[in-house]
Amino acid sequence: MQLRPKRISSYWHKLIRVNVKEDDVPEMKDMLDPRHYKNVMTAPLEAESLPPWCYTDERFFKLEVERIFMRVWNLVGRDDLMPNPGDYLATDVAGIPIILIRDQNGQARAFANSCRHRATQLLSGEGNCQAIVCPYHHWAFALDGNLISAAGMEDTIGFDMADYGLKPLRLERWAGFLFINFNSEAKPLLDQLGDLPEHLDCYDFPNLISTRRKIWDVACNWKIYLENQRESYHIPAVHGQSLGDQSATPLDPVGAWSGSLIPVDQTAALLKGETSPFPAIATRSGSALEGSHFIGLYPNTYLVATSDCFWWMEIRPRGPNRIQLVVGSGFPHETVTRPDFAEVAERYYRRWDLTHKEDNDICELQQSGVNSPLAQAGRLSRRERGVNAVDRWIIETLLNDGDTSRVGAA
Ligand code: FES
Ligand SMILES: [Fe+2]
Repeated sequence: MQLRPKRISSYWHKLIRVNVKEDDVPEMKDMLDPRHYKNVMTAPLEAESLPPWCYTDERFFKLEVERIFMRVWNLVGRDDLMPNPGDYLATDVAGIPIILIRDQNGQARAFANSCRHRATQLLSGEGNCQAIVCPYHHWAFALDGNLISAAGMEDTIGFDMADYGLKPLRLERWAGFLFINFNSEAKPLLDQLGDLPEHLDCYDFPNLISTRRKIWDVACNWKIYLENQRESYHIPAVHGQSLGDQSATPLDPVGAWSGSLIPVDQTAALLKGETSPFPAIATRSGSALEGSHFIGLYPNTYLVATSDCFWWMEIRPRGPNRIQLVVGSGFPHETVTRPDFAEVAERYYRRWDLTHKEDNDICELQQSGVNSPLAQAGRLSRRERGVNAVDRWIIETLLNDGDTSRVGAA
């Protein structure tokens, strides 16, 4: 029988407590004590990585869900993934199931994916429907969330169908990306994004078409994945054969993101040695003409905008040791309508599949290492400033109970 890594970790932490005093896992109420993170909340070259239990402990993960994922804006997809009335996408944020759907008037909406009868999950995957029909007792909801059929409930005293519509969720968009928020008190999405639109709007994202999404299950903590994407130290070792080395210039963020500009004179979306067969995005300006933007958009997204296309990663936590990773990609409308698009795009897809496999594998190995009771926090190189930026945003947001406006620029 295979034991779950968390259980192995907790077991051994208890057994050898005497020897690992410094890294002992605190009680849940103590996990919000800033003293645990004092070596993280400092300049990158003086800092340590997070304590290993932040990547393995169920209780710490629960705090992250409550104080980060349920408080801030989370990317959930792209507008163009559901172009027609009735198109839907069933997804989740940190395991909380949600529905994205386009209503009869063309408006995208988000709902809790739980029936208002006895809470059954209503939709799975993606598709198109005239109404949302619960598979359990066939209650039916209109595309705007109103309950329109509850046959068999006629004798139920005081039951009013108007009281049992789907629970709506806040949904906002930027540049064709859809974000949801469970927190009715949260400030608008653009407050969280800060000055990111100033860096990226020149790529004309609303004109870019999402051509493909690939879903991976990866056995690692969500922070391990985001940290990996935000550092270039691993590139020679992990992607030396596929990408070669890449140097990165850090950007100076305002808002819930951090990122780098990688100065390449053509697309960053092909394997080493290949040249771009697609035309560049004509609207690019400023720093977008000098390189590609690699952006960690907190908490759950990594986004790359390069000369001829873009790709994004939705990191869906599924517990402390596991994520579902969605890798989406898109190209300008003019490129997608070329007769050779499907054939040439395969070269881009091959690059993404290969390098994501490389990242997924190394992240799983890191998770295996942090699961050990002997794991300890480590120091960071000059190419891992992004790891420190990610960790500081997470800890500050956690300690501020999701109030990102109180989080300083990392
Ligand atoms: S739980 Fe949905 S109709 Fe009963
Ligand atoms: Fe990588």
